[in-house]
Amino acid sequence: MDWNGAKVLVTGGAGQIGANLVERLVGMGAQITVADNLWRGKKSNLLKDGKPMINMETQFLELDLAERAACDMACAGQDIVIHLADVVAGINFVFGNQYFLFNKNALIDNNMIQAALDAGVEKYVFVGSACSYPADKQAVLNPPPFKEEDVYPALPESAYGWSKLMGEYLCELAAQSGKMETGVLRFHNVYGPRCEMSPEKSQVIPALIRKAIRHPKEDFVVWGSGVQRRAFVYVDDAVEGLIRVVERGMGKGAIQIGPDFSTSIREVAEQAVAASGREIEIVFDPTKPEGDMDRAADWTKAREILGWEPTVGVAEGIKRTYAWCEAELHRLDNQT
Ligand SMILES: NC(=O)c1ccc[n+]([C@@H]2O[C@H](COP(=O)([O-])OP(=O)(O)OC[C@H]3O[C@@H](n4cnc5c(N)ncnc54)[C@H](O)[C@@H]3O)[C@@H](O)[C@H]2O)c1
Repeated sequence: MDWNGAKVLVTGGAGQIGANLVERLVGMGAQITVADNLWRGKKSNLLKDGKPMINMETQFLELDLAERAACDMACAGQDIVIHLADVVAGINFVFGNQYFLFNKNALIDNNMIQAALDAGVEKYVFVGSACSYPADKQAVLNPPPFKEEDVYPALPESAYGWSKLMGEYLCELAAQSGKMETGVLRFHNVYGPRCEMSPEKSQVIPALIRKAIRHPKEDFVVWGSGVQRRAFVYVDDAVEGLIRVVERGMGKGAIQIGPDFSTSIREVAEQAVAASGREIEIVFDPTKPEGDMDRAADWTKAREILGWEPTVGVAEGIKRTYAWCEAELHRLDNQT
């Protein structure tokens, strides 16, 4: 597929995955529009080497995509929509704001897909989440890697997991209209540069990296026992999946993106400390929530349809993310 000149809307394009995707697509000559309300994304994520990757006056739309009119504005004239905007955050926010999160994501996903259909968009990509797998299947250590169909019968642990599953289902139904091709990737835990680091909204890897960088001003406390495990995906591998789903994964149902093994949160904490090059005592706080116990991806479908494979391991990925976070915190500290 020739991306050169393709009109591509990236919703949530100021976020972690979105901004890295924008960097790739701009490099391939695509004509990008970003729509984001900056709930968690940042305009500074759209900088590369200090310069904007897109024209921030004409190609960046600061819009709340929970509003239908905003979705219409964003979708007008687009060939391809890669819809990444949704409310995503760390475990505390997710479990403390279940109604807000489900309601908001349902509004965003429903309004976006209808606007794309009405605007005559050709290809529409949605991303689901491994949080949508049934809670009981993730409640034990070392479950067999999930296949795509294991998501049903559905019983996600969180409203976030439900909202992402409903987003996938919407795509399936919209495709049946025959008016628009839809593609769905189901990501495991994505991390990497351009991540959110704040104590309120960050996910586990950026949170632990921030604590390592800030130590000893901030205690290096790991939430939960550290025994819980996740299948981590470096953001470049997630971006590669998004490019490939547009090229050869449309109309194929949900495709999982993630490794077939998991890494414990204790190991993540140790890698964050190793990346700091300092001696930091790791303290576990079992009174804090830790979520599902364990999960990983059987990524046969991604290999067969997309030719995708994970390429960056956790130790290397954390090292790269640490370097980005350190530079970013330094930049922010110098601003204030
Ligand atoms: N990070 C992960 O581990 C992970 C795993 C599975 C799926 N996903 C999905 O991937 C997508 C991107 O996630 P991310 O990790 O880049 O998170 P992110 O928070 O960095 O990106 C989401 C973006 O959506 C924007 N947004 C939120 N509400 C909005 C609204 N009402 N209107 C417009 N923009 C809005 C945010 O400001 C943010 O920039 C999300 O759909 C998420 O559910 C992420």
